Amino acid sequence: MDKLLIIDDEADIQRSFRRLFASPEVEVITASSGEEGLAIIPRERPDLVLMDVRMGGMSGLETLRRLRETDARLPVIMMTAYGTTQTAIEAMKLGAFDYLLKPFDVPKLKELVAGALRAARQMRAVVSVQSAVEADDFDLGIVGRSAAMQTVFKLIGQLASSDATALITGESGTGKELVARAIYSHSGRARQPFVAINCAAIPEGLLESELFGHEKGAFTGAAQQRIGKFEQCNRGTIFLDEIGDMPLATQTKILRVLQSGTFERVGGNETVRVDVRVIAATNKPLEQAVAARAFREDLFYRLNVVRVPLPPLRERREDIPLLVEYFLRRLGREAGRAAKAMVPDVLRALEAHHWPGNVRELENAIRRASVVATGDTILTRDLPPEIASPAVVEGAAGGVVGGGAAGGVTGGVTGALAAGGVSPVVEMVRPGRERVPPPAELDVGTLAQWLFRWARSQSELRLLPTVERELVIEALKETQGNQVQAARLLGITRATLRKRIDKFGIRRELNVT
Ligand SMILES: Nc1ncnc2c1ncn2[C@@H]1O[C@H](COP(=O)(O)OP(=O)(O)OP(=O)(O)O)[C@@H](O)[C@H]1O
Ligand SMILES: [Mg+2]
Repeated sequence: MDKLLIIDDEADIQRSFRRLFASPEVEVITASSGEEGLAIIPRERPDLVLMDVRMGGMSGLETLRRLRETDARLPVIMMTAYGTTQTAIEAMKLGAFDYLLKPFDVPKLKELVAGALRAARQMRAVVSVQSAVEADDFDLGIVGRSAAMQTVFKLIGQLASSDATALITGESGTGKELVARAIYSHSGRARQPFVAINCAAIPEGLLESELFGHEKGAFTGAAQQRIGKFEQCNRGTIFLDEIGDMPLATQTKILRVLQSGTFERVGGNETVRVDVRVIAATNKPLEQAVAARAFREDLFYRLNVVRVPLPPLRERREDIPLLVEYFLRRLGREAGRAAKAMVPDVLRALEAHHWPGNVRELENAIRRASVVATGDTILTRDLPPEIASPAVVEGAAGGVVGGGAAGGVTGGVTGALAAGGVSPVVEMVRPGRERVPPPAELDVGTLAQWLFRWARSQSELRLLPTVERELVIEALKETQGNQVQAARLLGITRATLRKRIDKFGIRRELNVT
């Protein structure tokens, strides 16, 4: 349960916040002055503070300053009336999480509170590094016994005792963020803030201002000065996720911060100095981005000094039973019951799966199976079909065990599909003409997400033509080369189909005449 502390001398405000946020998941407590707030924080240990700037007695700003002397991590959102934004900026420099202007915009307020609670959780959760599942103490561990993971644990230890910049690489879902948080929570900066920014999720034009802040009038819409994450998180740790998606101009500023600890806010002249540790992560090979001039070479070398490569799950299958046990126990504890068990066939299927989504996919599969399983034991039928009866995927290491209850069908992927490399669709299509029923939640949107995820790991891929070509081939195979039927299946005219067949040079490959 999260605990929210409201510090405001107006009873009305206290009441409306209670109405807005009190729920079975959130407890709301209040204080009527800065002095009272400071007194109850050590006792009540709130997860988030919302504080008015202007109060009788100690001002909000002074309260924040005092609070920061003893606690650098507790997120504080300052509330201020229009016209006093200068004070809000001061608050940001003192390490406020954010500020809110009165009157409140309720959806924005809720979003801000949710974001701050998330950040609080990230900072609070100590990620322990362990090679096996231990009795009680596995709240948030990194599980792994494989040699590859042992190397990762050593690197985390070395990085935690230094201030070096680190670059964590690995496919999606391999645990990059978990490792970043482990480095942070074992480092000398563990009592300072940790801020995670996903460079791919923030629109290009806004990222620089998000990181470095901007001056009033720096660009259209910049009505006020804004303090960026680097300034806000001074003495702390910044996790730059998906750094491969960072625009070049921002890369230049990052390089300078790494080298000299200085930067200017967007549209400003004042040089700001900060002491921030940077941990970066990417699931794209940065070398390729460097070769394509989309990533600065000098920044790459600066980041690459200490690299933590996370192996895909299919290359450390010996960790699968351990991870399974870990997730089952954690799920059991979350639900307040004993961990569910699984029949050997289930484990075999899990060990054989290709895991394109790595540990995240495994975690989700187990979560889903635990929900679907009616008893205390997970059966093969509780697994998603693509995991229960895997098709052989070219390039997948290890053998394939036919799923028990669901009946496994194995075989090679047909040449035409495999020709373009392993495609994610392969895992859903069994060889021959037999089809795996799609998982319940499979829709075109999900499929598109899969395709993009796969596309990210391919270099110089032209996604749309590649997919189009595969669809044309599939349609022709489906209809045994009958172009009228194939065109109908694809929803295009026969003339268009012919053009595609020519364009993609499919004729020869499939013996279509
Ligand atoms: N070794 C591990 N032990 C336990 N849990 C793990 C491990 N690796 C990953 N996880 C879990 O798998 C999920 C995905 O991990 P995380 O978010 O760190 O991956 P990521 O590499 O950042 O993925 P993406 O590139 O998609 O952002 C999380 O829920 C994480 O807790
Ligand atoms: Mg991540």
